[in-house]
This record gives sequence, structure tokens and C-alpha cells, in this order.
Amino acid sequence: MRVIPLEKVKPGMVIERPVIGLGGKVLLSRGVKIDERYIKRLKEIGISALYIRDDNIGKVEYDDVVSERTRLEVINVTRDVMNNIRLTSDFDIKGVNKAVDDLVSELLISKDLVVALVDMRSANEKGFVHAVNTTVLSVITGMALGYNRDRLLQLACGALLHDIGIIMLPPELLRKLSLSPEENKQIMKHPELGFEILRKKEGVSLLSAHVALQHHEKYDGSGYPRGLSGKEISEFARIVSVTAIYDNMVGVGIGGDGVLPHQAIERLTAYSGKWFDPDILQVFVRSIAIFPVGITVLLNTGETALVTNANKKFPSRPVVRVFRNRAGVNLNPPFEIDLARNPEYFIQKILKDDDL
Ligand SMILES: [Fe+2]
Repeated sequence: MRVIPLEKVKPGMVIERPVIGLGGKVLLSRGVKIDERYIKRLKEIGISALYIRDDNIGKVEYDDVVSERTRLEVINVTRDVMNNIRLTSDFDIKGVNKAVDDLVSELLISKDLVVALVDMRSANEKGFVHAVNTTVLSVITGMALGYNRDRLLQLACGALLHDIGIIMLPPELLRKLSLSPEENKQIMKHPELGFEILRKKEGVSLLSAHVALQHHEKYDGSGYPRGLSGKEISEFARIVSVTAIYDNMVGVGIGGDGVLPHQAIERLTAYSGKWFDPDILQVFVRSIAIFPVGITVLLNTGETALVTNANKKFPSRPVVRVFRNRAGVNLNPPFEIDLARNPEYFIQKILKDDDL
């Protein structure tokens, strides 16, 4: 499988990873052959790239850190919570706790977790998917920090609901592309609005509620609402401030406004110690594969290769499958190199589809 930007997807290509559509439903499942109708629909809902089967390069098996079933469960629960808060200012905590429990349980049994797949969310699903991805990334960071299960559950609950206050804002405000200073001030109230809902809610720990209140605080004190700095900001909020921004950066997928992991990590690193706790940022960066599976890269030898697996210990040195030699001739069969074991090889750059 390889990542192909939607504008390069042609009828007859076969989907290798399912596409989640409106309402958290599977829109296109694995094995579906694409036709013009699907391409049009995918464009409409804002999907920017797909994982496509590529028989010339051969099979690439890479499992996401969370199963599709659990991911959908958490997306659905998040959507219910948001709808209920909009209508009644209240929500069912039992559903949240069960979904968060399933998610954390699944992450805890996987070993050597690396987030190594490109994000294919649709623009319509951004809110829910963002909440879920932020939660997955936060839990993985918490695991790397040695959190026990109980702490992970509290972190996950806070991460999932961190932006819940947004729902209390007038919807027309959220649709606006440019905001007046007055409107901006209104948006900046969402941490406090979210905290108000969560701190009163039975079954939500105060630690989780503080994630909503403090996720826009910055390490150097330049954030809001209170301008807290350093360790004054709760550790959970220091984690979520990294994971939420990272997920927003990579969120649109490739081909759209979204950036690839290595670019997002570069940008985050520029704000280490300013916006972000440097220690937490470092732990987080180690859990992200810099070169996602399915991306095409140029090696220093001039050969072209597909990234097929991630190396947890060396995020910049994945396993690649070389399918074209330096003369531009396709290899049959291609061969695999583990860059972690072959120091003479390195990735020179990520190839866009236009370079191929
Ligand atoms: Fe926020």
C-alpha cells in the first residue's frame, strides 16, 4: 500500500485502508475499487489522500495503534457527548468512561507503539477525529512517561474532552474564517467554559477537568486563560497542549494544508521551552514515526523506496522497500532495507507524487 494524494487517485485503484466518513461510519472499506463517483464524493467531504494497494511494490502490512472498531467507538461517543452538551449542557459519563477504558486497554496491550500512518480524516469529521487522535497521542505519551492505568484513564478523559467548551460558543462564530478581536476573546473563553462543565460532572476527576482549563497555557507563561508557566501547568495539560497542536498540524492529511510528521515535529521543536515543556515534547517526538508507512522516499544512493515499517528506537530510520534503482528503472522484485541496520543508507527526501 502507498499514500496517494486524492488528485492523483484514478478509477480502478483499490483501497487498502478504510476511509471514515460522516458520523464515524466506514465510507469505503478495504478492497473497494475506486470509481469516478467515489473520487467526487471523497473530494466533497475533504479527504486529501488515500492508502492505495500497489501490486508492483507488493504487500505492506502495518496495523494502526488502535483498531478501527475502537476508534469508531470513541468517535461515536465523542459525537454523542458534543450533541448532548449542545442540547442539554450535560452528557453521559458512562459512555465516555467505557470508550476511554477500551482505548487505553488496547494501547496498553500493544508493545512498541509508534504512530506511523498518515491521517486520512474528512474535513466534516475534524472535530471528533481530532479529539480521538489527541487522546491516542496523549495516552501514548503518558505510557512513555510511565503512567499507570488509572492515570492513563484520567489523562485520556481529559484529552478527549479538552475542547468541550467550544460547544458552548455560538456556532456561527466557529464557522467564521476571520475573527474580530472581540470574537477572538469569545473563542478564548472555551477553556473556562469546558472546565465549568467538567468540574461539576460526577465521575470526571478534577485532573481531567484541568486539561480543558489549561490546554492553551504555554510553558513560558504566554498562554491563556491565566498565563501559568512551567510546572504551574498540570502535567496532563502540558501533554495535551503538544498532542492537540501536533494533530491539528498533520490533520488535513497530505495534499491539503496538512504537513507530514517530520515538518510538524520541526515546527513543534522550534517552540520547545517556549510553548511546550521540553521534556514532554521529547518523549512525544520519540513516539511518532517521522516517515510514515506508505510514503515514497529518495535514498542517498539515488534509489526510490517506499516506507514499509517503523523503527521505534530510530524514528528517522524506518524499514524501506526499494522499488526503483538510481537509473530510474523499476525493480522486479523490489528489495527491503532496514535503515536502522544499514547506516550507509539514509533518506534524502520525501518524494511527492509529482517527483515520481
Ligand atoms: Fe482549545
